[in-house]
Amino acid sequence: MKQSPILIIGKNGKTGARVNERLKALGYATRPVSRSTNPSFDWENPATWQSALNGTGAAYVTYQPDLAVPNAESAIKEFVRVAVDTGLQHIVLLSGRGEEGAQRAEEVLKASGISWNIVRASWFYQNFSESFMLEGILAGELVLPAGDTVEPFVDADDIADVVVATLTEPGHRNRLYEVTGPRALTFAQCIKEISDALGRPVTYTGIPVDAYISALREEGAPEDLQWLLRELFTVVFDGRNRNVMSGVKEALGRPPTDFKTYVQKAIESGVWAAVRQKEFA
Ligand SMILES: NC(=O)c1ccc[n+]([C@@H]2O[C@H](COP(=O)([O-])OP(=O)(O)OC[C@H]3O[C@@H](n4cnc5c(N)ncnc54)[C@H](OP(=O)(O)O)[C@@H]3O)[C@@H](O)[C@H]2O)c1
Repeated sequence: MKQSPILIIGKNGKTGARVNERLKALGYATRPVSRSTNPSFDWENPATWQSALNGTGAAYVTYQPDLAVPNAESAIKEFVRVAVDTGLQHIVLLSGRGEEGAQRAEEVLKASGISWNIVRASWFYQNFSESFMLEGILAGELVLPAGDTVEPFVDADDIADVVVATLTEPGHRNRLYEVTGPRALTFAQCIKEISDALGRPVTYTGIPVDAYISALREEGAPEDLQWLLRELFTVVFDGRNRNVMSGVKEALGRPPTDFKTYVQKAIESGVWAAVRQKEFA
């Protein structure tokens, strides 16, 4: 497999970038792609898929914007068909817990006839530092319609380690790993841990989902993003995913990284430095 590049869909993504870094450090050739690469890969333009796949032996697949959206299943079905025709031998799919659309996409992959792995993940720690929650934290208040539902958030570094194991160690073939962190936490608890470690007041404010979506609409957020966030904070974030799972331990033989360790890593990276600077403003 070291001869054929490993396709990574989601080059600069929270997990794709980490998977790419690890594979390259191990000496594997990679082809990380997204809409801004050459060759490019765009989930909304199937004409781009074939050239991204040509000559690759395995693929790590992150779907955009989320496997919960209505057309995800048909896109994954078509992608898998093109991949099989192109001679791809192994697909590792990043999936989400508690999402019906994601589970339909998983079934498509399992029925594809080529080797597969599914890494079915809880919400990432990195949403607090590399995604849509960062802005709220930097402003000192994270406002979300998450109530006091608990979620066993997981470290994207752990996800990348599991993905790399499935891509490079044949003993994992055709297995699904349900990966979570070691503790189920509310958003309020996460924010308190971040605030305590930073030594700066950062608060969590829960609001009704309708008020949250109305605010997004007023800010000009696209309709499909409004739909997705409503789906995530109502259907998916209703407590169904509260259980801690053992996928990281099963795949790697070690426990998942705790939220406290992630918080220290994020502080050291400087991503929340602007929160701290406010203290002296
Ligand atoms: N965040 C979570 O808590 C969580 C939990 C469970 C599962 N997931 C799943 O994780 C997946 C996302 O993975 P990730 O977080 O590693 O990635 P990510 O950080 O969301 O990836 C962002 C990258 O995707 C590329 N992209 C955006 N639209 C695209 C399109 N139409 N076609 C191709 N590339 C596109 C962008 O690069 P360009 O601008 O260059 O295209 C961007 O750099 C989603 O399927 C989500 O459902 C997320």
